[in-house]
Amino acid sequence: MSVGEALGPADFSCLSMPAPQGLGAVQARWVDRIKRAALLRLHRSPRGERLLLRIYLAGEDATERALLDELLPQSPPWLERQVQQHLADEQRHVTLFAEALRERGDDAQARLEPDWLSRRKILRWQRLAHRYAGHFEHGLLVPAYATGLCAEQMAERVLSRHCSVLSSGHGLYPLLSRVLADEKAHVRLCENTLRRIVAPHEAPHLARLLKDIRRVDASFGISGALAMYGAGWLLGGRGSAGR
Ligand SMILES: [Fe+2]
Ligand SMILES: [Fe+2]
Repeated sequence: MSVGEALGPADFSCLSMPAPQGLGAVQARWVDRIKRAALLRLHRSPRGERLLLRIYLAGEDATERALLDELLPQSPPWLERQVQQHLADEQRHVTLFAEALRERGDDAQARLEPDWLSRRKILRWQRLAHRYAGHFEHGLLVPAYATGLCAEQMAERVLSRHCSVLSSGHGLYPLLSRVLADEKAHVRLCENTLRRIVAPHEAPHLARLLKDIRRVDASFGISGALAMYGAGWLLGGRGSAGR
């Protein structure tokens, strides 16, 4: 029996992404607008399109490593099968993005490490994980799943935006929409796992942890969007993105 089941229901509304308010809402709208423009520009050239695929490949690689290094070693036996299934999904995503790159003349051998901004973000998330672990009976497993949830929600947001700027006839649409469906399932999986491993009296700590994780994510929003837009201007050529 999980901790949550033993102590009764708790308020887990913190698991859903809160709608941004005030200045945060203005920032989120600008980030979204800049990223949509950058996506369209990057799709205009083969180099821009390969860069997008490499960014996704780096993200999938990082997720695979996090599952192998952080989740799998500390998962209780009842969670192991689920983590193995999740890992298999992320490994399939790595394969799919590597294949798409190869089809576009990139052997995907020299793997792109997460960029400087993403590495800074991961470092700050890791510090939060260690600061909060002592509040939970399951220790670091909770921050690992909380970070995982936010990363999967981010993947869902990024891929939803990307699918919405492409027409369904675009060559990359089937790949992106297939990965998007998996990431949506991973969001549900992380939410359900957190409901099971967090005791009702620990829920307020989880709410604060998720707020801090999302604050770190949002603080990189504008700089990430501008970096992407800069790449769009450098690599974007002429032509239509709606292939
Ligand atoms: Fe993935
Ligand atoms: Fe995922």
